[in-house]
Amino acid sequence: PVTAVVLVAAGSGERLGYGIPKAAVPLGGEPILLHALRGIVAAGVGSQVCVALPAGDDGLRQLVEDFRLELADGGPLLTTVDGGATRADSVRSALGSLVEGTEAVLVHDAARALTPEYVFHRVVDSLAAGAVAVIPAVPVVDTVKTVVPTTGEDGRMAPEIVTGTAPREELRAVQTPQGFHLPTLLRAHEAALKFDERQTAAVTDDAMLVELLGVPVHVVHGSTQSLKITTPLDLIIAEGLLEGPLG
Ligand code: C5P
Repeated sequence: PVTAVVLVAAGSGERLGYGIPKAAVPLGGEPILLHALRGIVAAGVGSQVCVALPAGDDGLRQLVEDFRLELADGGPLLTTVDGGATRADSVRSALGSLVEGTEAVLVHDAARALTPEYVFHRVVDSLAAGAVAVIPAVPVVDTVKTVVPTTGEDGRMAPEIVTGTAPREELRAVQTPQGFHLPTLLRAHEAALKFDERQTAAVTDDAMLVELLGVPVHVVHGSTQSLKITTPLDLIIAEGLLEGPLG
């Protein structure tokens, strides 16, 4: 299928604590966004790459412009859009700007800048084999519990209380790129526009919107190298991976 990649890079990156958008934070001396773009192009998975950037960020826009000049002939069409207030808004904005004739789309987090090529290929191969939606995932190493906040009688915060323990062997930590038949993802994002504030805040990936349509979401094996660079610790791990990836 004619495939595009949507690269979402419009997050604020507050949790990294640099005071600049995460996509601009240096990793091995170069912005995270540049690593992410190189990874997509090296994997050779899309005829278009559309990057959602923080609105009005001329520095990141220039970075994409400069990268376009680096691209050899035959590279993907590289475009940008302004991202939105939420990740889903950023995805929607990019989906609305894909070239006509696009049949499938991979949605990828710029923060997963070190995703190995083989993960992209597993997702693309699964789509080519007929999956409508496919996500890369890895087993969960921690025991995962659900909790509720509680307040003491005096109204002060009390410790959270556990409400349950999910069976670990059924859990997967989900990554990107997530691949979709484009019309299905458009339908899923359209439906999400009707969500209330609480539902909107609970949207953390694209596959969950497709799940709500009742469409089966296939799972392929991801990679621990696809970590989402979110905290200062992640940045240290990512720097280490650049020195020498784990086999
Ligand atoms: O904040 P979160 O961990 O969900 O971010 C995941 C990815 O989504 C990041 O690459 C971030 O740049 C992107 N994002 C976005 N627009 C937003 C929020 C996050 O493109 N409004």
